[in-house]
Amino acid sequence: MRTFFNVEDLGNLAQALREAREVKNNRYGFQHLGKNKTLLMIFFNNSLRTRLSTQKAAMNLGMNVMVLDVNAGAWKLETERGVIMNGDKSEHLLEAIPVMGSYCDLIGIRSFAGLVNREFDYAETIVNQFVKHSGRPVFAMETATVHPLQAFADLITIDEYKPCRRPKVVLSWAPHCRALPQAVPNSFAQWMGAADVDFVITHPEGYELDPTFTGNAVIEYDQRKAFAGAHFVYAKNWSCPGVTHPADYGKILTEDAAWTIDSKHMNWTDNGYFMHCLPVRRGLIVTDDVIESPRSLVIPEAANREISAEVVIKRMLETL
Ligand code: CP
Repeated sequence: MRTFFNVEDLGNLAQALREAREVKNNRYGFQHLGKNKTLLMIFFNNSLRTRLSTQKAAMNLGMNVMVLDVNAGAWKLETERGVIMNGDKSEHLLEAIPVMGSYCDLIGIRSFAGLVNREFDYAETIVNQFVKHSGRPVFAMETATVHPLQAFADLITIDEYKPCRRPKVVLSWAPHCRALPQAVPNSFAQWMGAADVDFVITHPEGYELDPTFTGNAVIEYDQRKAFAGAHFVYAKNWSCPGVTHPADYGKILTEDAAWTIDSKHMNWTDNGYFMHCLPVRRGLIVTDDVIESPRSLVIPEAANREISAEVVIKRMLETL
């Protein structure tokens, strides 16, 4: 596997889930693959879970790990061609990328959407330059439009806790005080579309996700109807994706508190589990009692990030 951005990169999902179970039961069993191999993790944005779980996964596999926080200690990077670099950016991405590639065997990259220019973000302009110029396999640690390590961990968690063969999974928009990217809901929708689940998306009008990711998913604007019979509620905020409202790309269209997931919402479900990728702002996305309840899966979900990362890195090491 040379790249990991979309669900198709992993091939057969049932096989990937079997491999995840194998890795979870024997997470130090593949160390020969990573001996004398180096992972470089590059962060343009903050992280807690991705940073720790991916580093842990690489160490489980016997790898050496280097972490670069681009905005904390590295030269500021220019990303555009044709500019006169007489500002505060000392180095061009086109030199920095092959240099970084020369020090490692695999690259993980986090580079969020700017939420200003939809075309720039949805073309994955930054990350694609790493794919093109690094000479190394590259995996997403959340890019402008996708967060596949999170979606894979979410799927592993749903597979572990599902109460029936084909559970109902609902992705619900929830309010937030800051404009957030669409990477997590995009990937979650893409992965649920490929999984053996009954998938419904609910959000206020104007928050329609890009159809590239949602495919044939059912969209139900009535949150109560969407939650009826749900076995899993996956809450997430996202800003306007600009699909039906192009001029509003990246904006907050509403902060309607009626969409906050509280116990009344969870009572609409079929004894459903609550999920969120974290970090989460309590009181906006979810109430204290719901996230602290025995039906909250946020901690096992985060723990499975180590497993999703280990499967992905393992596959990349196997094809080096
Ligand atoms: N869920 C997730 O990616 O968390 P971090 O932003 O802390 O890495």
